[in-house]
Formats: sequence, structure tokens, C-alpha cells
Amino acid sequence: MDIMDIKGDTRVLGIFGYPIRHTLSPLMHNVAIREKGLNIVYLPFEVEKGCLKEAVQAVRALNLLGVNVTIPHKEAVMPFLDEVSEEAILSGSVNTIVNMKGRLKGFNTDGEGYIRSLQRKGFNVNDKRVLMLGAGGAARGITASLIKEKVGHVVIANRTPLRGEELAKRFSHISLGMIEAIPLTFDSLRERIKDIDLIVNTTSVEMEGKGRLKIPLNLLPKGAIVSDIVYKPFKTPLLKDAEALGYKTINGIGMLVEQGALSFKLWTGIDAPVRSMEMAVIKALQTPV
Ligand code: ATR
Repeated sequence: MDIMDIKGDTRVLGIFGYPIRHTLSPLMHNVAIREKGLNIVYLPFEVEKGCLKEAVQAVRALNLLGVNVTIPHKEAVMPFLDEVSEEAILSGSVNTIVNMKGRLKGFNTDGEGYIRSLQRKGFNVNDKRVLMLGAGGAARGITASLIKEKVGHVVIANRTPLRGEELAKRFSHISLGMIEAIPLTFDSLRERIKDIDLIVNTTSVEMEGKGRLKIPLNLLPKGAIVSDIVYKPFKTPLLKDAEALGYKTINGIGMLVEQGALSFKLWTGIDAPVRSMEMAVIKALQTPV
């Protein structure tokens, strides 16, 4: 879709967030829309916290096809919707709204997007033992999807231990004792890392040089995978260390693209061109701003 192709019957998608200027979603979705030849356009909407309710009402009033929801609105948006999916309830947040003839339904595609990013690299979480670093919003969504995919065991390691325990408790009714929480310290990790198949870092510590996680990676079994949901930088120091020790690593680009592809399918019913979306995102991230 070229801007000059916008007509009276062009449908509108978008993203609500604040700040929104660094979002890659318009690029990713407009690439998909163009490749599939759809009469749709995807726009960024800067929505301040106090304006969220009106913004959601505008989805109905302006008959938008749907929107993505990002920081800081993923949790706050839930009460304004008519319906929310099971994944959204479990993860306590919504990243996708679909306008179904005026009824707004919220979904969360982050967790499944993460699982798919692993599957694309040939890794299946079924029966695996996972070490989750962090217990925030992202960890919640991924934990919900890990349980759905019948993971073997999840160890949540968080700086604030109480928050990790709350996350484990949140899923206790469906996790059948497969989730436990420990403090995010070198010593407690040393005890638990020896039989782990997959590490997922959901903390923001290593984003753009903020700091370092201290993980006894040398004790991780050979053949284990180390993944990070961060994609800026492409390779966090954790992933670099893991690679240097011979582990396979997966960065956050796959999750970014796959969660977008799942939203695209919810809005359009069409399988998204994942490879083109990924190439566009990588190119944008490599371009200095
Ligand atoms: P998100 O929604 O992106 O997951 P969040 O809810 O703010 O963001 O959660 C951020 C996660 O990163 C939390 O697990 C946080 O740990 P706390 O619960 O102790 O705050 C973790 N985190 C952030 N900075 C950290 C740091 N310097 N060291 C260790 N963990 C950190």
C-alpha cells in the first residue's frame, strides 16, 4: 500500500503507546500489508496515560480494524475492552485489540510469539526445563505460553524474590507445581542451572549498555539454549558470553516479528510474510538514527 493508494474504503490499523516514536510496528505491518496487497494502512498513535479510555473508544468511533497496544498501556487497557482472550487474562495484559463490528476483543500474542521464535530455530519447549530471568510483564506472558505448551519445569529467578513468588503463585492453579521462584543471585543460580535446557532473559538489565546479569553460564549443560527477548543490541552481553562458551543463542528479533505476525493474522485472517517483516526490522535496527 502506497500513501497515494489510500482511498475512501481503506481500513486503518495502528499502535497505541507512549512514547511511540521508536516503534518498529508500523514498518513491520506496512511491509506485510504491501506484500499481501491489502487495502489497509498501519499508523502510530501517541496516547498519553490519561487519554487511554478515549483512545479505545476511538477504535469503535472511527471504526479502526484494530490496534496494537504497547508500553505503558498493556495492563491498563483491559477494563476498557468488551472481551479478552484466555492468554490475555493469564498474562494480565493485552497487546492486540481486534474490532469485531464494534465489539473490542483483547489478545496477547507476546508469549506465543516467543514460543514460535524458538520453534523457528527448531526448539520445542515441551517437557523442557526453563530458567526464566525476571518476573515482570514479559515474564508473565511467556510463562502463560510455556504452560500452554506443556513445559516440564520453570524456575523463575528475580531480583525482588517476592515478585517472582507472586508470579509462580499466579499460575499455581494450572502449573501443577512445575513453577518455582528463586532469588536472582549468582549463588542460587549456581544451584539450579545444572539441569536447565533453556534460559530466557526477560529483564531489561542488558538493554543498551544499562548493566550486566551475573549468571554462572559455564555450569549450564552443553546443548542448552540461551535466549533473550531484547533485540537492541542484537546480541546482549549474555548472548555473547553464551556463544563464546559454545551455546546456541536466540535474540529478541524473532519474538518481535512473530508477535506481530500473530496480530496480523488476527486482524486480516492472512498468514503474515514473516521473513519480509524480519528483514525490514533488521535493516531498520542496523540503520543509525
Ligand atoms: P517488562 O514488562 O518489560 O517485563 P517490568 O515489569 O518492569 O518490565 O519488569 C522488568 C524485570 O526486569 C523485572 O523482573 C525486574 O526485576 P524486579 O522485579 O526486581 O524489579 C528486572 N530488572 C530490571 N532491572 C534489573 C536489574 N538491574 N537487575 C536485575 N533485575 C532487573
